[in-house]
Amino acid sequence: AGATLPLSLQVNGQQVDASIDPRTSLLDLLREGLHLTGAKKGCDHGQCGACTVHVDGRRVVSCLTLAAKMQGREVLTIEGLALPEGSLHPMQQAFIDHDALQCGYCTPGQIMAAVACVQEGHATSAEQIQEFMSGNICRCGAYAGIVAAIQDAAAQMEGG
Ligand code: FES
Ligand code: FES
Repeated sequence: AGATLPLSLQVNGQQVDASIDPRTSLLDLLREGLHLTGAKKGCDHGQCGACTVHVDGRRVVSCLTLAAKMQGREVLTIEGLALPEGSLHPMQQAFIDHDALQCGYCTPGQIMAAVACVQEGHATSAEQIQEFMSGNICRCGAYAGIVAAIQDAAAQMEGG
């Protein structure tokens, strides 16, 4: 066991103070340290997108993000995406409405990437959505539903 590093950050709006191994990934901090298991460890090499979360409002693959770099940052995971009163985020509802999941393994990462994709302004057409969601792999091949869900949610998110 080497030296540990003190770390303070916000996760889903809550203050978190931890003591971490400096080599810990953000994904391992979330899953093992904080028991937030929505973000999935698909490949652990930045190739699948299953671990996607937001840091200060931007999407990152948490498996390639060092937890130590999160000092003072705000992390949002799928567990924190529902609205404060408990209703689903429009993107979550749209994934249900459009059957955009089969096994569901890729879904938390897809949804976090999709919310960012809309916020980035990269959801203006099916082709653009495919391009800007290409880092999120779905082994079940639910892509048609995913694109339809993002188009639907984008209209709602921009509308209000
Ligand atoms: Fe991070 Fe696959 S687990 S990209
Ligand atoms: Fe199974 Fe995407 S729904 S991997």
